[in-house]
Amino acid sequence: MYIIGGSASKTVAEDLSKGLQIPLAKTISKRFPDEELYIRILDNMAGEDVIIVQTTYPDPNIIELFLLQNAVKEANAKKVTVVIPYFGYARQDKKFENGEPISAKAIANLISLNADRVVTVDPHKEYILDFFAIPAFSCSAVTALTEFLKKKTVDMVLAPDKGALDRAKQSSKIIGCDFDYMEKTRIDGETVKIKPKNLEVKDKNVAIIDDIISTGGTMAKSIKELKKNKAKKIFVACTHGLFAGDAIKKLVSAGCNEIISTDTIKTEFSKVKIASCISQLLSSINR
Ligand code: R5P
Repeated sequence: MYIIGGSASKTVAEDLSKGLQIPLAKTISKRFPDEELYIRILDNMAGEDVIIVQTTYPDPNIIELFLLQNAVKEANAKKVTVVIPYFGYARQDKKFENGEPISAKAIANLISLNADRVVTVDPHKEYILDFFAIPAFSCSAVTALTEFLKKKTVDMVLAPDKGALDRAKQSSKIIGCDFDYMEKTRIDGETVKIKPKNLEVKDKNVAIIDDIISTGGTMAKSIKELKKNKAKKIFVACTHGLFAGDAIKKLVSAGCNEIISTDTIKTEFSKVKIASCISQLLSSINR
């Protein structure tokens, strides 16, 4: 068996390799003068079970994944598992307007061509797993994020919208504290409206938990509501920290005390490692 780490997910691949005691394959990659990508796997993949680990964000990492998949198939690997710590394009999971693609399906179709199964973490909606033409599985980072939050004295876990309510409930249950949620309306990709709400948070520490922080708009609006309700410390925690544009500035100026994310996308806020969650899932589907 071998694990191959794509350039977007080297650390996760290394952690998986250590945890599962499966060697990391040696690869090389470079850019041609016209910026096209060249990759080569130096170990022999013939007859091997291979796990490729690669987040499909931003776009160049999708091409790298396709090339790695093709390389292992061309080398006659026996079985290919694609681990996608963060599955990009998952939020365009339906046609919101006529003429749009179902982007999550488009990417899933292509990944399915050269793989036997797929594993991902907190996909935006679970039903996108059905877009893959091969068995697809997911695991949740809620427990890992909550273990980190437990060190912080959290009095309440807040979901910034109803979509995150189950996460907040689960997290609050582990911590043994209250939970609540906000009602959000998305106006466009960068603008959200949050319905004002009386929250019982005066002098309390609150953790807001979500799957993704992209522009930071959702979290910033929730932080402001918490501030209005006189919360003490505010932690924001997410599985996938995209932090697009000035997201961090928005969170900090809204009054956030700490930003926490996993390493599905590696940033300075990746304080929680995701590999053990993926290892557990891989072990359970191998049984
Ligand atoms: C949406 O339903 C997601 O769970 C996140 O709340 C959303 O993607 C966050 O986006 P942003 O940070 O741009 O508000």
